[in-house]
Amino acid sequence: MNKRKRRCKTFVNTPFSPPPPLRFGSLELSGNLVLAPMAGYTSLPFRMALHEIGGLSLGTSDLVNARSLIEKNPNAFKLIRSGPQDRPLAIQLFGAVPEEMRDAALVLESRGVDVVDVNMGCPVPKVCKVGGGAAMMAHPARAFAVVKAMADALRIPLTCKIRLGIDSLIAPDFARALADLGVKAIAVHGRTKQQGFDGEVDLDGIRKVVKAVPQIPVIGNGDITTPLEARKMLEETGCAGVMAGRGAFYNPWIFRDIRHYFATGEILPEASFDERFKFMARHLDLLIETFGEKHGCPMFRKMAPLYVKRLGPAAEFKRKIFHLQTRAQFDEITAHYRQWREEILGRKNSGLN
Ligand SMILES: Cc1cc2nc3c(=O)[nH]c(=O)nc-3n(C[C@H](O)[C@H](O)[C@H](O)COP(=O)(O)O)c2cc1C
Repeated sequence: MNKRKRRCKTFVNTPFSPPPPLRFGSLELSGNLVLAPMAGYTSLPFRMALHEIGGLSLGTSDLVNARSLIEKNPNAFKLIRSGPQDRPLAIQLFGAVPEEMRDAALVLESRGVDVVDVNMGCPVPKVCKVGGGAAMMAHPARAFAVVKAMADALRIPLTCKIRLGIDSLIAPDFARALADLGVKAIAVHGRTKQQGFDGEVDLDGIRKVVKAVPQIPVIGNGDITTPLEARKMLEETGCAGVMAGRGAFYNPWIFRDIRHYFATGEILPEASFDERFKFMARHLDLLIETFGEKHGCPMFRKMAPLYVKRLGPAAEFKRKIFHLQTRAQFDEITAHYRQWREEILGRKNSGLN
């Protein structure tokens, strides 16, 4: 009997019909599951590794400074690297000058990107200082001028990622204005800027955005880490798609699992230790292929602790991976960790601890 058959199956059979695959502008996606943009994490190797697992309908890049892109800054071009296995792809821009945002969007369009997204939710000072990110929602007139310049110039779909507001709910009216200007889909993180990442996601706030823009799809975002949470987001808000970010660190199979659940009602078991480490090795290999060993290994250091979060005792692994410099070291650290973990768990099970 193979491994998958041996694991028990869980079905959640209460009737549920997921919405049809997302369609906006000229784009028809294969489903409704979108990767949230996460600066420093959602680079090409991570997106490729997720696409290899399956289930992801649209990947999103790290955020890119529009001005850097039109000034041909090599770092900005590194951020927009893509390839055939990385499709469809949305690249997220930030900035507050309409002409710069338009021209940067046109650069992306000319390079075959599928969607241009505007960051209107990022609270970090570096982004807000230049009037981008969440500062856009604090200055709607400026935001709308940026969006108008971009929407008028682009043939590919323009989307925006917003929060519920700065310190209160303004997203429904804000979204209505964006849709009237030609934005083709809106992703909403169900918190205000003031909340940051604290507190519960306000599903009622997202539902009000959905109601405000019946003509375009709304993609609900915030704290989705399981298929049932994805279902709850869709059912309680009426949104057309879900976007997951941090959930993909803790469980890179999240998109495959949600898609499988939507299709069959079956909750797949969590990935095993071996599957997790195989995925990590693949992500590290892709980082090294893309950025070289010298840069790829340090980039992996911050991801690795998140991947092992659900594995139980991992202190030994985290301590060592923090100094990762080569691919060969990863195999050594993994082998040690496996042994250390077996000892710890063995001692616990035998009551010696
Ligand atoms: C490390 C990190 C980086 C992020 N970077 C961006 C970003 O570049 N652009 C953006 O719109 N949101 C960014 N976000 C917010 C996420 O896209 C998402 O809205 C938020 O994490 C809530 O979704 P989640 O609970 O599924 O992670 C970032 C979040 C994290 C944790």
